[in-house]
Amino acid sequence: MIDVSFICLELLHYRNRLRAEYSVERSSSEFERQIVVTGGAGFIGSNLLLYLVPRYPHYLFVNVDCLTYAGNLSNLREIENLPNYRFEKVDICDFDNLKRSFERFRIDGIIHLAAESHVDRSITGPAAFIQTNVLGTFHLMEIVRESVSAGRSIRFHHVSTDEVYGSLEEQGYFTEATPYKPNSPYSASKAASDHLVRAYHKTYGIDTVTTNCSNNYGPYQFPEKLIPLMIRNALAGIPLPVYGDGGNIRDWLYVEDHCRAIDLVFHKGESGLTYNIGGHNEIRNIDLVRLVCRILDQLVGGDPKEKLITFVKDRPGHDRRYAIDASFIQEKLGWKPQYRFEDGLRKTVQWYLDNEKWLSDCISGAYLQYYQKMYQNR
Ligand code: NAD
Ligand code: DAU
Repeated sequence: MIDVSFICLELLHYRNRLRAEYSVERSSSEFERQIVVTGGAGFIGSNLLLYLVPRYPHYLFVNVDCLTYAGNLSNLREIENLPNYRFEKVDICDFDNLKRSFERFRIDGIIHLAAESHVDRSITGPAAFIQTNVLGTFHLMEIVRESVSAGRSIRFHHVSTDEVYGSLEEQGYFTEATPYKPNSPYSASKAASDHLVRAYHKTYGIDTVTTNCSNNYGPYQFPEKLIPLMIRNALAGIPLPVYGDGGNIRDWLYVEDHCRAIDLVFHKGESGLTYNIGGHNEIRNIDLVRLVCRILDQLVGGDPKEKLITFVKDRPGHDRRYAIDASFIQEKLGWKPQYRFEDGLRKTVQWYLDNEKWLSDCISGAYLQYYQKMYQNR
């Protein structure tokens, strides 16, 4: 008996191979620009590629990602077969492989998002954060330096975080001039990478821009971060763990607003500068969790979800408050958030409800098989 699904899969692989070869061939001649996006299978990276790839059909986008637990290629289904998108499974810590991968294209822009990004993981296992966030960024800067000294021109956009500035008291905001005071291994590793990027601009004249953004939320965020974790637990009827007294404050930004800001800074930002990006959306964790519960109650009914809130031991070194002053990017580039927080949050909760399979695949680990299924023979 013929296994039809096997034949379909083989045909799919064959088609993908042809497309991959075809697009590499096209890459050197037909595309106006060739841009690497590192970490494109992660939360912000996949939202960014879904935003950029259809908007710039004359650019080739090369997604460089090694697919850690946080990388989920199925996020990119909508664009994976577009001729101006390519995926390269590469670890930025592996210099030789990274270099080989870059040599296959004529890269003139890099938007660097690949990172270990979860603060709690950095507390239990800091080594991976130093490797990827510091060493990986160093490797990219070295490749750019070599290319530039060989006469090429490359813009390097470093995507960073407001956490490098440390913690605020009740008053005040982070500006681009706020001194760095990182408090977790994650934020220290991001701070180190920011400094490397700055140094490569000052010392070697590399064309760099850096953005430091506040907490993002939206579709495709891995359910280890506050909002998707609360949605997931509430739907499963299990406790909603709020750290400490729940009084810590974050400044939330809908991920699409961040993507618009990255697009603007990458294209129009002034070389060597840093731009802070934030939502002016400060809210205490406990109030945010209650809001998520209320939205879920309205959308799915059942027992009030607030009953599941449980205060647990605090995160060590837990920053009390983040708040971004985003007036510089607003004045210079005309950016401001388009989403009102309540609307963005409702849209996000609805997305997780509509994509329960995505969520359950994250929990079960099923999403890890996507690469093998779609790309193994590519
Ligand atoms: P994420 O953890 O969801 O995704 C990270 C991606 O990087 C994954 O696809 C992963 O596979 C990839 N990656 C990790 N190590 C790699 C390596 N060694 N080589 C190649 N790929 C690797 O992260 P995110 O939340 O999307 O954050 C993206 C970037 O934005 C990070 O640099 C983070 O510091 C920054 N940032 C995040 C937020 C936020 O709220 N999530 C806010 C501001 C800045
Ligand atoms: O500010 C930008 C940063 O935002 C990014 O650089 C990081 O990559 C991103 O992970 C995020 O860091 P946070 O530590 O702020 O996000 P997280 O979702 O882990 O936690 C948000 C807040 O909620 C924080 O005060 C800790 C708290 N929290 C978190 C979790 C996971 C809880 O109370 N309970 C939880 O279960």
